[in-house]
Amino acid sequence: MSKLEKAALGEPAVAAPSDTDGAFLSVRDLRIHFDTDDGLVKSVDGVSFDVQRGRTLGIVGESGSGKSVTSLGVMGLHRSARAKVSGEVWLDGQELIAADPDDVRRLRGRKMAMIFQDPLSAMHPYYSVGQQIVEAYRVHHKVSKKEARKRAVEMLDRVGIPEPDKRVDGYPHEFSGGMRQRAMIAMALVNNPELLIADEPTTALDVTVQAQILDLIRDLQKEFGSAVIMITHDLGVVAEMADDLLVMYGGRCVERGPAEGVFSEPRHPYTWGLLGSMPRLDRDETDRLIPIKGSPPSLINVPSGCAFNPRCPYADIPKDNVTRTVRPELTEVGERHWAACHMGQEQRERIWTEEIAPKL
Ligand SMILES: Nc1ncnc2c1ncn2[C@@H]1O[C@H](COP(=O)(O)OP(=O)(O)O)[C@@H](O)[C@H]1O
Ligand code: SF4
Ligand SMILES: [Mg+2]
Repeated sequence: MSKLEKAALGEPAVAAPSDTDGAFLSVRDLRIHFDTDDGLVKSVDGVSFDVQRGRTLGIVGESGSGKSVTSLGVMGLHRSARAKVSGEVWLDGQELIAADPDDVRRLRGRKMAMIFQDPLSAMHPYYSVGQQIVEAYRVHHKVSKKEARKRAVEMLDRVGIPEPDKRVDGYPHEFSGGMRQRAMIAMALVNNPELLIADEPTTALDVTVQAQILDLIRDLQKEFGSAVIMITHDLGVVAEMADDLLVMYGGRCVERGPAEGVFSEPRHPYTWGLLGSMPRLDRDETDRLIPIKGSPPSLINVPSGCAFNPRCPYADIPKDNVTRTVRPELTEVGERHWAACHMGQEQRERIWTEEIAPKL
């Protein structure tokens, strides 16, 4: 019986993965490819990770590495005819890729919610902010409109919108960019989602507001034991928030592990580059930032070897041209810590300790 047929009969198409430690979210070999006029775009190409309740996974990587597409995939928001999605997404014991889209839709809001980079993509222009939060709340709670409105005002207050009892009747276009961002966050958090995906939630906000929003997410997590995925290019946010870290490059995971391990003993040349090139809240010597040379690979016609090869200062170290022809797989480099590089472990340890770490 095919996966589809099994799903149609309501049977799980595949068995839940056994190596998850009871994670709330387990993603296995997720692939999201887009059929475009220019060719097949392999935006996400075999990504796996787990997120436990009460914990935060940080996803980092340059623009275009597949972070947003990964999160939209988890939310089941890639059902267009041009998106080819495969792999498994297990949320609290339920597999979502093969599931009925209506079932997945019912999970959105309460079981999982997402804060987008761009609030306008999440808010409807013709309804007041309050109406939208009330609607989002009433989908999952049998309460009167009056009660839901009270909840909306309370949420707007919690995300730091002044005079929330007045602003609740405003329309998205009447809000400034920062206020609109907060209103969208209020909408995403209104149902206390068990999984929250925050995609660059604070990029457009100033530092003070950013800190407030991160506090709010932390409070939600503490109060309800939510699992959080924090997508950001700010390593300071990750250092502060994330328990685990996933580094993406060219639609793949090149390194993942406990945040502490990845920060203190990174084992992939791309991660070294990121650490040297990304701003950190906890470090003000921005003059020492060294950008990674070159640009990320095109996700159409991805090269057969290591995708980082053209930009990697160490590409010639692994022998026999292997980095140009063979894709490196993730191998264990520490406790729960994985990296995908052909270079020998000891060599990487040596380069990190002697050449990279002293300069950071
Ligand atoms: N609907 C789509 N159709 C075709 N390509 C897409 C689509 N959505 C995203 N992509 C491509 O997938 C790649 C990864 O995008 P994205 O996940 O948004 O990157 P990130 O969030 O890491 O900046 C990009 O090259 C982007 O152009
Ligand atoms: S496999 Fe080769 S090119 Fe890729 S990161 Fe490792 S050393 Fe660099
Ligand atoms: Mg993005």
